[in-house]
Amino acid sequence: MLEEAAKLVVKSRFAIAFTGAGISAESGVPTFRGFNGLWKKHRPEELATPEAFEKDPHLVWSFYKWRMDLIRKARPNPAHYALAELERMGILKAVVMQNVDDLHREAGSRNVVELHGNIFRVRCTSCSYKENLKESGRLEAFLAERDLPKCPRCGSLLRPDVVWFGEPLPRKALEEAFKLAETADLVLVIGTSGVVYPAAYIPQIVKEHGGKVIEVNTERSGITPIADLFIRGRAGEVMERLMEKVRVMLNG
Ligand code: APR
Ligand code: ZN
Repeated sequence: MLEEAAKLVVKSRFAIAFTGAGISAESGVPTFRGFNGLWKKHRPEELATPEAFEKDPHLVWSFYKWRMDLIRKARPNPAHYALAELERMGILKAVVMQNVDDLHREAGSRNVVELHGNIFRVRCTSCSYKENLKESGRLEAFLAERDLPKCPRCGSLLRPDVVWFGEPLPRKALEEAFKLAETADLVLVIGTSGVVYPAAYIPQIVKEHGGKVIEVNTERSGITPIADLFIRGRAGEVMERLMEKVRVMLNG
C-alpha cells in the first residue's frame, strides 16, 4: 500500500494536499469531532456558529482563546514536514487546509490555501479592521485580557477571523482551491472527516478530473469511498514512512 502510494507520489506532476484536523492531532491540537464533551460540555460544532457568538460571546471567546493558547504552543509533526519537503521537491504544488493553525507554514510549506481562516487573526464585527495577533506581537496580552476584545478603530466587538458553520468561505481561497483541484493529478487527503462542505468537494473535483486520491486517516471518512488508496494510520507516522520510500525512489 505504502509502496503504491509512493509510486503515485513520485509519478505525479501536480500534486496537492487536502488536510484537516487529524494532521495536527499528533501536534497536540484536538480534532473537532473527536473530543465531544471534553470542553466544558460544549461540542465545538455548537460553539463555532454566528448564533452562539451572538448569544454568548464570552463563552465563544473563551473557547477560541483556549484553542489559540493550545495552538500557539503546538509544533509541526512529521506529516507537516513531509508536505513541506514534497513541495521543495517540486511534486506538491499546494496545501489546501481546513485547519486554522499555522503548522503547515511553520513546517516550511509555502503555498498554503486557508479555507477556514486563521485562528491568530481577529476582525471587527462592524468595520473592516483586521489584525494578526501573532504578527502584531499582541497575542500574549490578548489572551490575558478578561474583557471581551474590542476594535481599536471603532470600539465594536472583535471576533475570530475563522469561518463558522453557516458562513461562506473566503471567495478567493475557495476559487484558488477549486482551480488547484481541477489541475491536480493527485491529492493527498490527510486527517479530515470529509463531511464539511464546500471544502469536502476538493478531493471529489480532483477525482472527477481524472486525478488520483490517496487518503491517510486513522478511520474511514466521507472521502474513503472515492479514495484510490486508503492508508489507515496516524498522519505523522504514515507520512514519515511514505517519505522514506519516496526519497529512495527519487535517489535511485
Ligand atoms: N492521523 C490521521 N488522521 C487522524 C488522526 C491522526 N493522528 N487523528 C484523527 N484523525 C482523523 C479522524 O479520524 C477524522 O476523520 O482526522 C479527522 C478529524 O476530523 P474532524 O475533527 O471532523 O476535522 P476536519 O475534518 O478537519 O473538520 C472539518 O469542520 O469543525 C469544522 O471548520 C472546522 O475545519 C474544520 C472542519
Ligand atoms: Zn471596528
